[in-house]
Amino acid sequence: MKTSNELLKSGSDFLRENNIKSNIIDAELLLSKVLGQPREKILVESDLKPNQTQIKNFYNLILRRGLSKEPIAYILNKKEFWSLNFSIGREVLIPRPETEILVETIVKYFKGKNPFVLDVGTGSGCIIISLFQEFTKSKGIAIDISQKALKFAKLNAKTSNTINRIRFINSSICDFHNSKFDLIVSNPPYISRPDLNDLDESIKYFEPKLALDGGNDGLDVIRKVIYKSGKILKINGMLALEIGNGQYKKVSQILKLNKFREKFLIKDYKNNIRCIFSVLNHY
Ligand SMILES: C[S@@+](CC[C@H](N)C(=O)[O-])C[C@H]1O[C@@H](n2cnc3c(N)ncnc32)[C@H](O)[C@@H]1O
Repeated sequence: MKTSNELLKSGSDFLRENNIKSNIIDAELLLSKVLGQPREKILVESDLKPNQTQIKNFYNLILRRGLSKEPIAYILNKKEFWSLNFSIGREVLIPRPETEILVETIVKYFKGKNPFVLDVGTGSGCIIISLFQEFTKSKGIAIDISQKALKFAKLNAKTSNTINRIRFINSSICDFHNSKFDLIVSNPPYISRPDLNDLDESIKYFEPKLALDGGNDGLDVIRKVIYKSGKILKINGMLALEIGNGQYKKVSQILKLNKFREKFLIKDYKNNIRCIFSVLNHY
């Protein structure tokens, strides 16, 4: 019978041969899941003796990761974001580090305040729930067109004790009418239809199309969010948008057309403009 260390070695070798760059850590995480033990324990006690079922389950997960290229976050059903553990499944987008930059900037901007927030396309709830760790008295609304995504968002809000401050509504931004917000934040789907096919297979075959598909030019939902924000943002309220790489110029035009003025832009780790913060012009 193989020891945990031997399993880790054969699992990570298989992942490496199948071009998984994070092969070592992935094998550790998968073994940790199968054994129901923290990763640290597995690393320290290298001669644990998993039983037959555990070994079989481990290799099944290794195959899902190595051959099918299923993202590790979906196999583990969780993803860390803003130092919180979010429950996720294939019905929601896996929260991304770029989105943490959006959250970080909002936290700095509204420091010491408790804005009334609308999160459009909440998915796992990662944006509004993370913001509410910092804005401890804020209330808000999180909407998503996907009922299945909202189940995860509600679960995450319960786990993080923010459920009493967030109303979750299954709605498209187009059909949403509500009170005035201090902050509207959105990481909308922004991949253009032609680009959907070129996505990495771990994204293309696993992440929900509703969370990726931004229509022919990638800007369908962004347009809707900007247009509606013009109606439901308070005077001096802020619209914080995450956008795709290379979309800045076009989104900037849409903002102008809808009477928004850009306050500041945020670049990602690769120096691309990925977030636009804007306010409404009042004449
Ligand atoms: C890119 S994901 C973002 C999820 C999450 N906010 C995050 O940052 O990880 C976009 C989300 O918008 C939702 N969505 C797509 N079209 C929408 C619409 N018209 N109105 C509201 N939500 C929409 C999708 O279901 C998906 O959950």
